Amino acid sequence: MIDLTDRVAMVTGAGRGIGKATALLLAEQGADVVVTDVVPEREDVGDAVEDRGATALVRELDVTDPAQARAVADDAEAELGGVDVLVNNAGIFPAQSLDEIDHEDWQRVIDVNLTGTFNCTSAVVPGMRDRGYGRIVNVSSAAGGRVGWAGSLSHYAASKAGVVGFTRSAAIDLAPDGITINAVVPGMIDTGAAEEVSSPEEIEAAVAATPVGRQGEPEELASAVVYLSSEPAAFVTGASLVVDGGITLV
Ligand code: NAI
Repeated sequence: MIDLTDRVAMVTGAGRGIGKATALLLAEQGADVVVTDVVPEREDVGDAVEDRGATALVRELDVTDPAQARAVADDAEAELGGVDVLVNNAGIFPAQSLDEIDHEDWQRVIDVNLTGTFNCTSAVVPGMRDRGYGRIVNVSSAAGGRVGWAGSLSHYAASKAGVVGFTRSAAIDLAPDGITINAVVPGMIDTGAAEEVSSPEEIEAAVAATPVGRQGEPEELASAVVYLSSEPAAFVTGASLVVDGGITLV
């Protein structure tokens, strides 16, 4: 078991899906959790964190706003002693073909998925540097690499490939201060979010293309995040941990 007792973890987009599963698993491993999202469901997730015996600090956070990100990091510092683990999970994936994407659509996806990752990372890194310890985990996507099953997502694919590039270069900058930064690369995870943008036939085709033959569970992604959030993962940095049931292999 990974022991995150006395660690403080901040999760973005923690109101549902992968972010929620991650916040709860981090709490189960002993971490106090800063539960952030734009949706009010974050309050229920905060309650569920506390049900697991951990402290929850629940904050509204739109990751596109760097001032909000800094304010949440400051609150976490004041109330819990600072963020040791940041999980940049917040993301949007509107299915739009290239012809449908206008400049505003493009910018919105880049702002949330890529710039949001930068904003929250920049907000917590000064405190991590002061304490000489940090774990940052960025949620990318298989759609950022091999995209055979993921057309109509060019803005999304660009943002998620960007997350991997950001992770690799930032790892070099952060390593001297005991801070690791890694990416997880999910395939199709059963959060209900894919159903909002894909037809049942598209989901079925993606499952058929997955060697494991099913969608992943949010908890299966969360357990990969928890590993990268742990002290024993100290020698892993700039890496991308693929959690995709093998879809990018075929
Ligand atoms: P979801 O839609 O269930 O959850 C995403 C969360 O992000 C929501 O709670 C939403 O309110 C929040 N969010 C959206 N915009 C935000 C903003 N500007 N600021 C703060 N929070 C914001 O999605 P899911 O499936 O849990 O995905 C989580 C992450 O995993 C995303 O980054 C997504 O791109 C990535 N991913 C998901 C896959 C899947 O199959 N579900 C596959 C590959 C990657």
